[in-house]
Amino acid sequence: MAVISVWVGPMSSLALYIHVPFCGQRCAYCHFDIKVLHPRSDPAAFELRYLDALQQELNHYAGEYGGRSLSSVFLGGGTPSRLPLAALTRLTAAVRAAFAVDPDCEWSMEVNPEDAHPTYLNGLAELGFTRLSFGVQTFDDRALAVLKRPHDGAGAQAVLAHCARLGLPHGFSLDLMLGLPYQTEATLARDLDVIAALQPPHVSVYMLETDLPTSLDKTGRGLPMPDEDDQAEWYERVVARLAALGLAHYEISNFARPGFACRHNLTYWQRGDYLGLGPAAHGFVGACAWANHERLNDWQAAVARQGHGRASEERWSAARCHNEVLLQGMRLLRGIDPEHLSVAQRTALKVHQAADLLQYRDKRLALTVKGCLLANEVFTSLLDS
Ligand SMILES: C[S@@+](CC[C@H](N)C(=O)[O-])C[C@H]1O[C@@H](n2cnc3c(N)ncnc32)[C@H](O)[C@@H]1O
Ligand code: SF4
Repeated sequence: MAVISVWVGPMSSLALYIHVPFCGQRCAYCHFDIKVLHPRSDPAAFELRYLDALQQELNHYAGEYGGRSLSSVFLGGGTPSRLPLAALTRLTAAVRAAFAVDPDCEWSMEVNPEDAHPTYLNGLAELGFTRLSFGVQTFDDRALAVLKRPHDGAGAQAVLAHCARLGLPHGFSLDLMLGLPYQTEATLARDLDVIAALQPPHVSVYMLETDLPTSLDKTGRGLPMPDEDDQAEWYERVVARLAALGLAHYEISNFARPGFACRHNLTYWQRGDYLGLGPAAHGFVGACAWANHERLNDWQAAVARQGHGRASEERWSAARCHNEVLLQGMRLLRGIDPEHLSVAQRTALKVHQAADLLQYRDKRLALTVKGCLLANEVFTSLLDS
């Protein structure tokens, strides 16, 4: 199996996550704390209040960490592409005014296909976004309709083809989901054929989580749902097909051509420092972890009161930081240096080696493809020993 080397940014740099909570609708499987902007509401007023608070929070952190430059900026959601170009112009200018930005900084943004008109995508490239990540999920129209996604498969293909022509420095990505209603081996094979034709430099693959209070919970609400054995087999098939397309499996859910792994997310997995702005965002600097208020109004009120939206923060012990490094590092297919494991941890992990969930590769201990599907079992052993 090809395992790509991962990017390591300058240790003094920071990653910056900005959470955009707005969505045009609630998708059937979504449990995120989002703010649906109905046609009757005034989106511009919401965006303005949100941007004002974001700018205040940004300035707060610039006061604290302004001496450090940014290696990545990631706009996630929610649906960042609900923000018009004018709002994104203000936001990106505010980031550049608050922090120095590394010359090869990765500027990523999540984009929903229905928002991605060619002029909008061109505008994002002009604003300096270097990487776009599209929430495609599947190209199958029947599944998209029951998921309550507003785009269709042909539209998503056109968007991705346009994005490919933009030649963004850090490429583009699409999210694919396994375990969807109406998904079969045949629909999955068609999705993979479309990916083969589009040749994206990055793909993320997520198993549909159904243990969540959504309108598509584990009952499937009477829809035909693939069973867990099918999903596990499909995951292994997807890994093999993406590898054949030159997309190496570098993290449990992520695949990239060499040089196109997501730098921002690698900062999380390599336990680098990152700031989190906006409702529900998390941050981690040194040994200090924090979580912002989840609801838009609570976050805005906290920012007005204290300059930042933190609802809780915690200083982690050296032991907890060490375990976090192991846990996050284990998500990467390059695995971890076993020298960093305690004797108890090494002993506890042996059972997973015997079960073919873990294996030694290049003297590092790493998840197997089967292990990726049962990663939580491995993580529990790591933490409990
Ligand atoms: C945080 S969401 C936000 C992106 C964007 N709003 C969208 O829906 O495309 C990023 C990705 O998480 C995945 N995701 C969301 N809900 C999920 C669920 N219940 N189970 C598994 N993956 C999920 C989807 O693949 C989605 O594209
Ligand atoms: S667009 Fe994304 S974040 Fe918004 S409701 Fe749908 S899945 Fe959730």
